[in-house]
Amino acid sequence: MIIQSRQFIGSFNTLADLPKSEMPEFCFIGRSNVGKSSLINYITGKKDLAKVSSTPGKTQSFNYFLINKNWHLVDLPGYGYAKRSKTLRASWNTEMHRYFIERETLLCVFVLIDSRIPPQKLDLELIHFLGENEVPFSLVFTKADKREFKACMQNIKVFKSELLKTWEALPTSFITSSEEKQGGDLILEFIAEVASK
Ligand code: GTP
Ligand code: MG
Repeated sequence: MIIQSRQFIGSFNTLADLPKSEMPEFCFIGRSNVGKSSLINYITGKKDLAKVSSTPGKTQSFNYFLINKNWHLVDLPGYGYAKRSKTLRASWNTEMHRYFIERETLLCVFVLIDSRIPPQKLDLELIHFLGENEVPFSLVFTKADKREFKACMQNIKVFKSELLKTWEALPTSFITSSEEKQGGDLILEFIAEVASK
């Protein structure tokens, strides 16, 4: 897929506020600092499309982009940011979980996993939630830069075997480095294919 246009539509705080749209939608989620904004900027080919927040974890909103005038990309705030109150975290989690289940146009959730570190509990919990609720999702292993590629591949292997303890099959997965602009083309191809069904 060639990206011809990308535009920021707005940030929305609740499910009720989301744009009433029938276009296919794809969202990006992952722990704070996993590289969501960098990946979105890389695949859309615009350096500052997704703002890198100076106060991570503070804004809790669905950030909507319109790509090629025919599909939505949604940037969700990172989870696992410690400085947020428990109550706030819980209410936002509920809102996001409802979004995954109720948003009818949402065709795939991309769960970003930092390939430089071993499996994290919060990531596995989210994946189990999506799996149990039959929400379509894919994994994107981020920050797999060349100089650390071997160690990253080892972490990815461990992550997958952790999933296979619970699940019979693994979801589609991608390995990316936004810094080196690697792997994004396959994500765009996948989006084009899913959106055209
Ligand atoms: P929040 O919005 O705070 O949840 O963070 P985020 O998930 O949007 O991460 P962001 O894209 O802001 O990146 C976090 C940090 O990781 C930044 O310092 C990036 O430069 C770095 N980073 C992102 N992608 C890569 C990558 O492919 N390789 C390396 N080495 N660093 C990366
Ligand atoms: Mg971000």
